[in-house]
Amino acid sequence: MQIGIDQASLNQWYVLDTEAVIPVGRSQNRLLGTDLTVVRQADGAIEVFAEGRAEPLPLRHRFGFLWATLGQPEREIFPLPEADEPDRRYVPCGVVTVKASGLRIVENFLDMAHFPFVHTDVLGAEPHTEVQSYDVEIRREEDEVWATNCTFFQPQAALSAQDGITTQYMYRVMTPFTTILYKTCPNATNRWDVIGLFVQPLDPGRCRAHPIMYLIDDVSTTTELIHFQQMIFLQDRIILENQRPVLLPLEPRKEIPTRADASSIAYRRWLKEKGVTYGATTVAA
Ligand SMILES: [Fe+2]
Repeated sequence: MQIGIDQASLNQWYVLDTEAVIPVGRSQNRLLGTDLTVVRQADGAIEVFAEGRAEPLPLRHRFGFLWATLGQPEREIFPLPEADEPDRRYVPCGVVTVKASGLRIVENFLDMAHFPFVHTDVLGAEPHTEVQSYDVEIRREEDEVWATNCTFFQPQAALSAQDGITTQYMYRVMTPFTTILYKTCPNATNRWDVIGLFVQPLDPGRCRAHPIMYLIDDVSTTTELIHFQQMIFLQDRIILENQRPVLLPLEPRKEIPTRADASSIAYRRWLKEKGVTYGATTVAA
């Protein structure tokens, strides 16, 4: 039992790194306030040790990432069928360290209202600032939050987009710190581009964010795709690091919601039901 970590946050799988960048030998990492030592053998085999524990941590290898847990997850890592489609571009986008709560990073990812103001002339532009109403549900069987029928006018929805389009979105939150969006693919009308954001909480107010994309795009180079995504995320980082309070309030009355916030309200309610407090201002009952 880790002191100060709620069970719902403890019993999850978290990305530690893109597997390909983990060096041979010993390297340091961190998860939920616990220092980790990563040991990679010359043959590629990896073990991860948490401070104060003799046994190595359980690990998983999925989506090109190394995943670990400090607890006992009830479920395996969430399914993502698009990851196994052979014609998709697999684009791991590196890692970004953010001085913010991991819950705030996920919530920002779900928010369309900031597009015209934070990602100006890329993911949004004035005067197209209104968020149309969309559907949100907590899917009980999967235990995931979904927002569907989301639309937004975007001057450049993706690197491969030629003109502004009204982009369709679906958002999915699989665990408190992992989320995926599905958005209109400019190159294939009947399929979605998939962008995942997997947050590794280092401490309550400090994280590493691991974005990943599975795209239908035959034109752009991988470097161009990564630069586009990093530009977007660095714009978000400025906002995230200046949000106050630093930790996410789970009490609904602390911040006044608008219609655009339906996904945020559902996300916070779902976190509260689970008893997630890591990176939140509320205290466990
Ligand atoms: Fe953003």
